[in-house]
Amino acid sequence: MTEHVKIQENGAVLEILFARPEKKNALSNAMYRAMSDALESARTNNNVRVVLFGAEGESFTAGNDLADFAAVATGASAELEAHAFLDQLARTDKPIVAAVPGLAVGVGTTMLLHCDVVYLAESATLSTPFVNLALVPEAASSLLLPARIGQVAAFAMFCLGESLSAQQAVALGLANKVLPAEQVLPAAREAARMLATRALGAIVATKKLMRDRERVLAQMRNEEAIFRERLRTDEAREALAAFFERRPPDFSKFAP
Ligand code: COA
Repeated sequence: MTEHVKIQENGAVLEILFARPEKKNALSNAMYRAMSDALESARTNNNVRVVLFGAEGESFTAGNDLADFAAVATGASAELEAHAFLDQLARTDKPIVAAVPGLAVGVGTTMLLHCDVVYLAESATLSTPFVNLALVPEAASSLLLPARIGQVAAFAMFCLGESLSAQQAVALGLANKVLPAEQVLPAAREAARMLATRALGAIVATKKLMRDRERVLAQMRNEEAIFRERLRTDEAREALAAFFERRPPDFSKFAP
């Protein structure tokens, strides 16, 4: 249990709200576990017809809790719950709606690739700066992001740390629309309510046709193996230390 994610059934909609605004909704292992369990039970709960992700405060999420990454990098822990959560997300055959009120870093952006309806606040920014941390993409984003926005735009996001504005994200096909911040969650709730009235069997079948789940899960397994290896490299340890010491990293002494 964690107070940092609020999970409730709102009619036929399972709402999952990130609620750790003081850390820009960075996702801890405990938060991932709570969300994985909720997604797993939603699969067999006939009362749930739609899943909705949103967030309290001005950020969607600043991505994985870097303290949890640092614990793995230094050998203090082996716990890394992000991938199990992403696996559940990719296996969710009911429709998923996302309301993004602001900043979406790392998994905050890659999880959107598994959502079916995405609304962004005007101030939202999307970024996947895995290489800033000397890491590699997850959530099958190494496959799905180039497929969605093109190779060079995806490389710039992964390897140069470039972010997209909300308008750019819509233009590139990563989101449906941009709304004033206060309208994002209400509009997403409305979309979810509307989806919940439609023929769920047909939606599930359509999603299945549109998404190559086996390919996606296989890519996620490859990514996870490399991600775990990379977390234990000198490069990643330097990047994480630099974040917590609030200084730029120095990778110059490390070779591949
Ligand atoms: N993990 C853990 N803590 C995080 C975090 C994360 N991913 N992102 C932000 N925080 C914490 C900060 O450490 C800070 O905590 P403190 O107040 O106890 O010092 C608090 O959230 C506010 O963040 P801060 O960095 O002061 O805000 P900012 O507006 O200056 O910068 C970001 C915001 C998102 C640009 C910056 O926090 C950042 O780069 N975070 C890391 C993002 C990241 O690399 N995510 C993983 C991608 S794979």
